Amino acid sequence: MASFQFLSGVSMRILFVAMSVLLWKANAITRHYQFNVEMKNVTRLCHTKSIVTVNGQFPGPRVIANEGDRLVIRVTNHVSHNITIHWHGIRQLRSGWADGPAYVTQCPIQTGQSYVYNYTVVGQRGTFFWHAHISWLRATLYGPLIILPKNNTPYPFEKPYKEVPIVFGEWFNTDTEAIINQAMKTGGGPNVSDAYTINGLPGPLYNCSAKDTFKLKVKPGKTYLLRFINAALNDELFFSIANHSLRVVDADAIYVKPFDTETILITPGQTTNVLLKTKPNFPGATFLMAARPYATGSGTFDNTTVAGILEYESPALHSVISAKKLPLHKPSLPALNDTSFAASFTNKLRSLASPQFPANVPQNVDKHFFFTVGLGTNPCDQNQACQGPNGTKFAASISNISFVQPTTALLQAHFTGKSGGVYSPDFPINPFHWFNYTGTPPNNTMVQNETKLMVLPYNTSVELVMQDTSILGAESHPLHLHGFNFFVVGQGFGNYDPKNDPKKFNLVDPIERNTVGVPSGGWVAIRFLADNPGVWFMHCHLEVHTSWGLKMAWLVLDGKLPNQKLLPPPADLPKC
Ligand code: C2O
Repeated sequence: MASFQFLSGVSMRILFVAMSVLLWKANAITRHYQFNVEMKNVTRLCHTKSIVTVNGQFPGPRVIANEGDRLVIRVTNHVSHNITIHWHGIRQLRSGWADGPAYVTQCPIQTGQSYVYNYTVVGQRGTFFWHAHISWLRATLYGPLIILPKNNTPYPFEKPYKEVPIVFGEWFNTDTEAIINQAMKTGGGPNVSDAYTINGLPGPLYNCSAKDTFKLKVKPGKTYLLRFINAALNDELFFSIANHSLRVVDADAIYVKPFDTETILITPGQTTNVLLKTKPNFPGATFLMAARPYATGSGTFDNTTVAGILEYESPALHSVISAKKLPLHKPSLPALNDTSFAASFTNKLRSLASPQFPANVPQNVDKHFFFTVGLGTNPCDQNQACQGPNGTKFAASISNISFVQPTTALLQAHFTGKSGGVYSPDFPINPFHWFNYTGTPPNNTMVQNETKLMVLPYNTSVELVMQDTSILGAESHPLHLHGFNFFVVGQGFGNYDPKNDPKKFNLVDPIERNTVGVPSGGWVAIRFLADNPGVWFMHCHLEVHTSWGLKMAWLVLDGKLPNQKLLPPPADLPKC
């Protein structure tokens, strides 16, 4: 009898394991979405304009899935612009055709056409977002992309009572395509935005905007998970809620060692999850939440402040009276150019590096790269009066190469073996010319205009140092890498010192992310393993800098094994 019970215990366990495997398989599902790209009249700040939207929504619809799920999103273009959509932060393992940057992984979806973005979310969970990846259309074409843990997998922190996506954006009273086209023609800086927005709403600090205010209604004594996304075009942002501290638990969809802060800094392209604990008893109280830029460049920028309201529930009877009587508390934010706050905030970010969520930092490096990032100039066309520095045109570059967008997609050119005339595979390992990058800039600020790729064999372990330059002014640049997460192993101010700085690298629990701010007048060192075959864009997520050429692409070759090769393109891949 006893031995029978023992046997049945074992077989029960085997049965249980088998069933949970089956259940997990059954849990990973395919989720279908239809994105109709269409025009819609939207009014903000008393200006009505026709904007490009997905399904008439601004901001766009939320996409939600669990880790392991397949997403099948059919995008149909009903507007006159060419469109592509990028799933920012999703690694797209072997599915680069679904990544989205125009003329990098695909030709754009033309008017009247559709394309199905089809990919599986492997080993990732957290806050992402989707956005248009062509010209400046992401100004209005963006929305949250939330990947929840696999069913029944808890967060490595307290279970939140509620989860709220909070998306920052930028509102322009005039057409953003006209703004960037005009700027590219004249060579001058583009017009800045008229407002920042929280979930599409500018809030009460702007004229004619009080009714367009984001309100977060909360219950006392609860924990809320706020999922912040910076979808703004050109501005890093500080954010704070009056009288509340924020516990940072996740950055760019990677769990971090929790820490408390009054203010977060979030660059375009970054996401940050925080826990907000509401106070035990505050019926009817209201607190302002606000965001305004962290700006380091010498150009003009939108220095306004977006605000929303955190409002505690109150018993119905008192609500009207008490809400009016209680003062509205206001947060204080760092100064607009507070680089020391930026540095101390980013230094607090550490990977969780737990057994369940390890930090797999590459310990050995196969290839070292050193890239400069910054601004520069292009000559003015003959018979034109340009509005850039000293009558030139503004440009931006990586290692003085201003990337020229091809007219056909790089990934296709690579896959079909027809790269001739499309790109050259010789992006430099180091800049051609050494100068004191953060000192007095050189007299010649002209860039080279080329389409160069850096080629990496499969599984290359890469270390890349990105150095800001002072050409036309030092400036923080949020660099975003497609196809990978990377570890931020070091950062500092001044010129990178290849002898001494590596001694201080953190190879234990560095933050893992997909977008990192290259410090203004400083450098950052990242490491990643090139284990994803394809063509992967890397660019400044300040859209104006992308337009000016601060971008390049990595070409990661196929590995030997069948599961190390880029899959063939889908049949409906758009044509140029
Ligand atoms: Cu969110 Cu290449 O961008």
